[in-house]
Amino acid sequence: MYIVFARKYRPQSLDEVIGQDIVVKTIKNAIEQKRLYHSILFYGSMGTGKTSLARIIAKSLNCEKGPTVNPCGQCEHCIAISEGRSVDVIEIDGASNRRIDDARNIIESTRYAPLSARFKIFIIDEVHMLTEEAFNALLKIIEEPPDYVKFIFATTNIEKVPQTILSRCQIFKLNKITPDNIYVKLKKILESEDMQMDDDGIKLISKVSSGSLRVAENYLDRVVAYKNQDINVQDVSYVLGVADYNVIDNFIDAIVNFDSKLAFEKIEYIYEHNLKIEIFVEMLLERLIILDIDLELKSAFIKFFYDAYLQIKYKVDDIVALKVATQKSLAIKNLTKIEDIIQHVNSISVYSNTEKKTKTNSISSDDNFDNKSSVVAENNTDETIDKFDKMVIDIFGGEIITKR
Ligand SMILES: Nc1ncnc2c1ncn2[C@@H]1O[C@H](COP(=O)(O)OP(=O)(O)O)[C@@H](O)[C@H]1O
Ligand SMILES: [Mg+2]
Ligand SMILES: [Zn+2]
Repeated sequence: MYIVFARKYRPQSLDEVIGQDIVVKTIKNAIEQKRLYHSILFYGSMGTGKTSLARIIAKSLNCEKGPTVNPCGQCEHCIAISEGRSVDVIEIDGASNRRIDDARNIIESTRYAPLSARFKIFIIDEVHMLTEEAFNALLKIIEEPPDYVKFIFATTNIEKVPQTILSRCQIFKLNKITPDNIYVKLKKILESEDMQMDDDGIKLISKVSSGSLRVAENYLDRVVAYKNQDINVQDVSYVLGVADYNVIDNFIDAIVNFDSKLAFEKIEYIYEHNLKIEIFVEMLLERLIILDIDLELKSAFIKFFYDAYLQIKYKVDDIVALKVATQKSLAIKNLTKIEDIIQHVNSISVYSNTEKKTKTNSISSDDNFDNKSSVVAENNTDETIDKFDKMVIDIFGGEIITKR
């Protein structure tokens, strides 16, 4: 039977958890010094290790050799927990068990001691989905559970968890996983599977996974389903619908040389191959920023494509935004005086600060949230915009930001 990589390569011990060093260290200390709270909450975006950590802690607590920071992985409890079938580790999906009756079932169940392990552990995923009544019902038991009961909560949306619950929990924030860390894990998986992929291919997957190892591993599943030996970056690009660096560099060449024929050919290519334009523009910006060309020119290009990037975030048709930015870039060719270029750049300010704020807010609200791809759905738009704001400040020295 084929097991997807995300499941097959779930970290089984604290040392296998990637990119969460502070959390891992704190948990180790807490277990060693017996100072782990009876209620713990993990928050952070999808695929960063919440469920994995919850299960590892359950093993640490219930291992025959435990409580220990190094659960043996061999005993009946460790094995049952890893396979998700321990009778004393109860995993509950908060989204589908959100009502007060569900909370009452949990409370009722805490009255009985664990059947075979040391602790009875409730892992409640997406806990922010619980109703207010359900939360209220659980307050007391979370604060003072029987000695043999532990609660581990996980959520992608901590703002929706009531303060009364939070104040009773030991809280751990999980970071998004950096592309470098994702790269390391993907490389290990490929090695274990005895499959070869070129470095650019692995880098491309790491780059477009939005800080989620689960997304990266799912992408890897898709790519190896298409081709499982000697995979290269073009295969990745093709399967995932993201432009590879060749396309981006060709496009940049076209812009820098004001070659409008080539530039629009590339746009046509992107369109025909159904490549994700938002990711294309994001990668283009990163490339532009480190490009070694005349600074005025570079600033203008960055400004145009950054505007396109924001427009795409604000739901302007993506291909239109890309074409407009390209036109503006190409139009610089006819401006010879530097003053004209500066004026050209400044004349095309997209949104005022206030507009930007409200629009940004509206896209991050659930209702309007773009669901085109899992990448976008997981992305914190504000955070992404912040990231580029910082890059743009680096280039423009803060000037352009105040103008926007
Ligand atoms: N920090 C991490 N270190 C190593 N692998 C991870 C990490 N986070 C996620 N993964 C991979 O992604 C899969 C899903 O992770 P999971 O812990 O269920 O994420 P979450 O509960 O935060 O959505 C795991 O099985 C594992 O393969
Ligand atoms: Mg999870
Ligand atoms: Zn064990």
